[in-house]
Amino acid sequence: MNHVHQACIHPECGATYDVGQILTACPSCNSLLDIQYDWDKVAVPRSLSEFESRWGSRREPLDFSGVWRFRELLPFAPDHQIVTIGEGQTILQKNDRLAAQLGMNSGRLFLQYEGLNPSGSFKDNGMTAASTHAHMVGARITACASTGNTSASLAIYAGVSGLFQCVVFVGSGRIAYGKLSQALDYGARTLQIRGDFDDALARVREICEQHPIYLCNSVNPFRLEGQKTIMLRVLEGLGWDVPEWIVVPGGNLGNCSAFGKAFMELKQLGLIDRVPRLAIINSSGAHTLEQLVNAHELTWNSGQVDAPKIGDYYESMDERNERARTLASAIEINRPVNLEKALRAIDVCDGVVQSVTDQEIVDARAMIAAAGFGCEPASGATLAGLHHLREQNLIGTDDRVVCVLTGHQLKDPDLTVAYHSADENLRAKKLVPSGVTKAPYANAPVVVDNDVAAILEALELSEESAAFN
Ligand code: F0G
Repeated sequence: MNHVHQACIHPECGATYDVGQILTACPSCNSLLDIQYDWDKVAVPRSLSEFESRWGSRREPLDFSGVWRFRELLPFAPDHQIVTIGEGQTILQKNDRLAAQLGMNSGRLFLQYEGLNPSGSFKDNGMTAASTHAHMVGARITACASTGNTSASLAIYAGVSGLFQCVVFVGSGRIAYGKLSQALDYGARTLQIRGDFDDALARVREICEQHPIYLCNSVNPFRLEGQKTIMLRVLEGLGWDVPEWIVVPGGNLGNCSAFGKAFMELKQLGLIDRVPRLAIINSSGAHTLEQLVNAHELTWNSGQVDAPKIGDYYESMDERNERARTLASAIEINRPVNLEKALRAIDVCDGVVQSVTDQEIVDARAMIAAAGFGCEPASGATLAGLHHLREQNLIGTDDRVVCVLTGHQLKDPDLTVAYHSADENLRAKKLVPSGVTKAPYANAPVVVDNDVAAILEALELSEESAAFN
């Protein structure tokens, strides 16, 4: 494969490496790596609509996959080595009810629902690509640290493919039960580290450097290649017409980085004529990107990122003993590993960063569930962020906006039930310590005696009016 290599993103280094190497940072300068293609040597379709011909050949697993049907845009693997489990059958839903609630015109707000993936989150888009590379290089053991979804995704790929074992590292007590149950069910060796996600990631990186274990976190550049296709499916859902805005939650910042790379390449290839703007939404309890960009004016700066500024920020965070803390446990991350690539995405897409409180997140999540696709709290951050950007008038009533709902509603049912619950103790235990005191969209269950009259009373129906005839 002489049309593809791994490349350091730092412009002064720019070292390149073979795709057969297992790397998660540039061996020469320790920066992040990209997968780069010599597009002249790839048979890229002249128009995105050419991919539609694959809709007619869905019995072919690579055409069925919502990732690999775009394989010419992530051409790093021979077809016979691709590991796919049917990921990416996801939906773009136009949602006029939510549009109206946000004061937007009908037909302008869309939800890209990644909860429909096999493991219930967007991670499968990346894990099919990382698993493919793991297979190409003959990995026997794979690993990741996770706030829950990455581990569920890696576990399902390891389990279904049977090609490698997997070990997942999760922070102790910081993972939603839906996600933990998946890792256990799919047979992952699951280590609960006494620490948070940032600790778990630091440890798994150390261990993978010293042992023949293949790391599947988003520092693995192959993962992000798969995640580019979320944007391809968004464009597909919009008839290949580029929207004005993409809104995405930011945690470890792999997803927004992948989106930026997708649009950079599509523009370079002449497959789109403009790029959308990108809004990355942090939780205010885990807001490193938002602080660095908005308060400290950190930018991509043509690749010359001000590293001392980042170092100072982390040092002051350590001095204050500040740990990430948010109910949106998926994005409870204070040291996002893809920070520099996210800055590049902001540069490419004229992006903005917004932080939102836990109260805003849980309310927005409930609004989405009542009017669209149920999603987990981190995904709710998108609508909460959009609300702020609408108030700032940065996003207009007629802009076409796509909120990426990254994970399924059933990932974190405890939080949903606590929000809706009439039981004050349950609610207080789960929500109040995080600053969530109200539940304006609550739909509390009604406790009722095991008796028809009592049930009808609870339904506010009389026995006569309850009859259909
Ligand atoms: N939404 C959900 C549902 C997630 O699980 C994550 C990340 C994000 C958003 C943020 O995406 O990291 O690419 O910025 N979850 C990771 C995990 C960290 O371990 O499952 P990001």
